[in-house]
Amino acid sequence: MTDSFASADERAAFIAGLPKAELHLHIEGSLEPELMFELAQRNGVAIPFASVEEVRAAYAFSNLQDFLDIYYQGMGVLRTEQDFHDLTVAYLARARADGVRHVEIFFDPQGHTMRGIAFETIVTGITRALDEAHAKHGMTSKLILSFLRHLSEAEAEATLDEALPFLDRIAGVGLDSSEVGHPPSKFERVFARARDLGLKLVAHAGEEGPPAYVHEALDLLKVDRIDHGNRSLEDPALVARLVSEGMTLTVCPLSNLKLCVVDDLADHPLKTMLDAGLAATVNSDDPSYFGGYVNANYRAVADALDLSKADLVTLARNSFTGSFLSEIDKAKHLEAIDAYA
Ligand code: ADE
Ligand code: ZN
Repeated sequence: MTDSFASADERAAFIAGLPKAELHLHIEGSLEPELMFELAQRNGVAIPFASVEEVRAAYAFSNLQDFLDIYYQGMGVLRTEQDFHDLTVAYLARARADGVRHVEIFFDPQGHTMRGIAFETIVTGITRALDEAHAKHGMTSKLILSFLRHLSEAEAEATLDEALPFLDRIAGVGLDSSEVGHPPSKFERVFARARDLGLKLVAHAGEEGPPAYVHEALDLLKVDRIDHGNRSLEDPALVARLVSEGMTLTVCPLSNLKLCVVDDLADHPLKTMLDAGLAATVNSDDPSYFGGYVNANYRAVADALDLSKADLVTLARNSFTGSFLSEIDKAKHLEAIDAYA
């Protein structure tokens, strides 16, 4: 293969057909304004917007907290098992259209249980949709329970307790929400318990927080993956460690742009990460809020950084090698990428 593209269209076509996994997707962040209105009506929930256009206009953020405030408000329309099912079906259709063969989906149970929604309602709705996508399309998935780090560790422990009857459906735990001021060390004990339960471990770190938070996620939480990890690049010794450990970073370019982690995609660190040998992947994070699903993220960052075919193939390969699939399944997907490329 030649390694460069003649045009953005050619690059987009290559991205469209590239088999890929998505490893960083908050299912509540895939709630499109149209579905938000439909569910608000279905459930008799009042929302402070008069139209879909008004909702989209409100999606202008200057940092992570700006976004989180509107994200927690938006998820208030999700009330029934059917709501969680329909939300997940809609995301999976978008992902499949983008050539996603495997997804690892975060959900934020505390954003719902604190509103009186039963844990079972959430998990049953999401997993029913995941099972249907597998049966109909062979799409595979893992579900990751994410703790809200602005809440206490005791509340995370109580959430893990609620998850115990559903551990056959939950592959791992994560850590999200307001990063600065809520370091990984705050959750060391609950992550140790999750590890003892055989769960995979991931954590958002280095999105807005300093490299020290990435160190803590590795040393104290003993994570299997770092979500975002952008600010790792400020610490060369940390980069060397992440490379030598083959640690996957689930990078989210359009999220980084919308949350002002980068001012311009031309300054995005993805190419630097790849050139340093970091196992970076491309993901959509909260696509409804950040303006694009996974292929839009690949296209935007590839155009801004003039990524080569080899770079794109590396990103897609990393998405499978960094997944929680079995080695046999990983090998099958890597073969499909090689055949495509
Ligand atoms: N929750 C949903 N998206 C998030 C992000 N990008 N960072 C932290 N918490 C989140
Ligand atoms: Zn995220």
